Amino acid sequence: MTVHRHRLVWGSPLVLAILALAVSQCAPRAPQQRRAAAGATSDIAQAAQKVYVAPGDLDPYYMFSSGGHSGNVYVYGIPSMRHLVTIPVFTPYPATGYGFDDDTKKMLGDLTWGDAHHPALSETKGEYDGRWLFINEMNGRIARIDLRDFKTKQILGPVPNLHGNHASSFVTPNTEYAMMATRFSRPVPQRPVGVDKYATEYKGIIAGVKINPTSGEMTLAWEILMPPFDYDLGDAGKLVSDGWMFFSSYNTERATGKLEVTASQRDRDYIAAVDWRAAEKAIADGKGDVIDGVKVIDPAKVAGIVYLMPCGKSPHGVDVSPDGKYIVGSGKLQGVTTVFNFEKIQTAIRNRDFLDDEDAIPVLKYESIKDAEVPVGLGPLHTQFGPDGMAYTSLFVDSAIAKWKLGTWEVIDKVPMSYSIGHLAAAEGDTVSPDGTWLVGLNKLSHGRHLSVGPSQPESSQLLDITEEKMKLVYDAFTEPEPHYAQIIKADKIKPIEVYPKEENKHPLAVWDIKDAGVTRQGKKVLVKMVAVRSTLTPTDFEANEGDEVTVAITNIEQTTDELHGFGLLDYNIKLVVDPGETKTVTFTAKKKGVFAYYCTNFCSALHQEMQGYFIVK
Ligand code: CUA
Repeated sequence: MTVHRHRLVWGSPLVLAILALAVSQCAPRAPQQRRAAAGATSDIAQAAQKVYVAPGDLDPYYMFSSGGHSGNVYVYGIPSMRHLVTIPVFTPYPATGYGFDDDTKKMLGDLTWGDAHHPALSETKGEYDGRWLFINEMNGRIARIDLRDFKTKQILGPVPNLHGNHASSFVTPNTEYAMMATRFSRPVPQRPVGVDKYATEYKGIIAGVKINPTSGEMTLAWEILMPPFDYDLGDAGKLVSDGWMFFSSYNTERATGKLEVTASQRDRDYIAAVDWRAAEKAIADGKGDVIDGVKVIDPAKVAGIVYLMPCGKSPHGVDVSPDGKYIVGSGKLQGVTTVFNFEKIQTAIRNRDFLDDEDAIPVLKYESIKDAEVPVGLGPLHTQFGPDGMAYTSLFVDSAIAKWKLGTWEVIDKVPMSYSIGHLAAAEGDTVSPDGTWLVGLNKLSHGRHLSVGPSQPESSQLLDITEEKMKLVYDAFTEPEPHYAQIIKADKIKPIEVYPKEENKHPLAVWDIKDAGVTRQGKKVLVKMVAVRSTLTPTDFEANEGDEVTVAITNIEQTTDELHGFGLLDYNIKLVVDPGETKTVTFTAKKKGVFAYYCTNFCSALHQEMQGYFIVK
């Protein structure tokens, strides 16, 4: 006991690791029991050392995790699991002023929530290149975050025809496209039709979002009309399978009502295999019908674009191996995960070895395209990869991770997870050359893994060391709720800027000299050009008449790292943060008469508290 107590005192990282390191996890247990279960203290010390990033040291990886219905992306350091930053995407976030200034307010539009799901790092030749992060959300949108400054730069959508954009935003190996697909089929074009006509009148959509290789700008390029299934997840082909995109789907019964019963009738659902280069060519050749302003390819009219691969019931993950040869389909109501062979798929398509069709889309024969059914365990959900053909499949029902080998199909190891693992993320795990160092299990429930904070339990992600034959659970960390999916990239691939260089600021309302700051009026429009620099917001007061339209354009003229200034205008719901070298504007109506203070919200100097002024409305 004294030994334990001694250790608890001398190293807080050890304490964390001790708390994290539990081998069997079903119920919350006291720290002492956990320590006993964790085995020898040398194991604990080893685990602690592995995850310990000393003060001043930096993590070798970033993890970008979806924040579910918070609408954010959360960035963690791996292996410390430190939460580094929150990137607001689909939701206003006062901490960075996101959704309060004119540009980001316009980008968000009428929607101030989004259910963010699958982050996708941009790729060059199948490797993460550290340029952009794409992320989808359910209201038919997809966003681009620039990794130069970790800020959301574009939100595309809601796109027409496609409803409930879950199977997104998977990028192709050279970031030619990000993808979108329907989860909730509805009539296309959109019109009120009763659910009794679901099987015939409702449609799914798969969409290709073209990405400009220089700017990252996204445009909706084409859509494919699909049967009314629920499209769930996807992955792009790579190397030998480059040019193809795979989407899992459920409810191929075309059922409505209680789907837990009605959509589990069939033994098999489908993975849709899309030849996206053929889709691109069809559009270039003038094929496709314009529906609600978008070119839509109907497979009944244009053959050779899409095929259906039968797979285990209600699949979730569909994952392409790093060499592009295998497509792993996880039927989450099964005890096996199915591996399809890309060559066999191509042969079956060439030989027209079809079982059937669904709305004129050929259905391939399961036995002709399957290579193996790997007995990974119950409820396989998502697969990530390591080097040398290693595969890691999360098992939702078993609440575990299975490690197995491509080619031999042998299950090598299994570790329990606490609790009910959903997705998992391996270091560089979606690239053509995964690192095989770290694996993070994104658990759906935590069942008391953290100090209690009431009925809404903190969610938990678990870190595993996968450098050796046996996987080792080394750390439990709080993660913000609903981390649907994450990607882990080598830190040195990202080169963020420290300030916005003055010479790059082309904002028409930017002012770089305090003497250029001031107020101008044109009719009922008031323009305030404001300079923020330690420790004054200039002008220190300005006036408007009730009903005027006021624009405040703030330039932070600092070129010093970390010198952010904020602009909080009380009672007007205005909250900007302006980074060094940045200009932001906010436009509003002077609705309320009286005197209102504004002040700098970000601590900037010893005189931060003095950085304030008054807005007077007459
Ligand atoms: Cu500027 Cu505080």
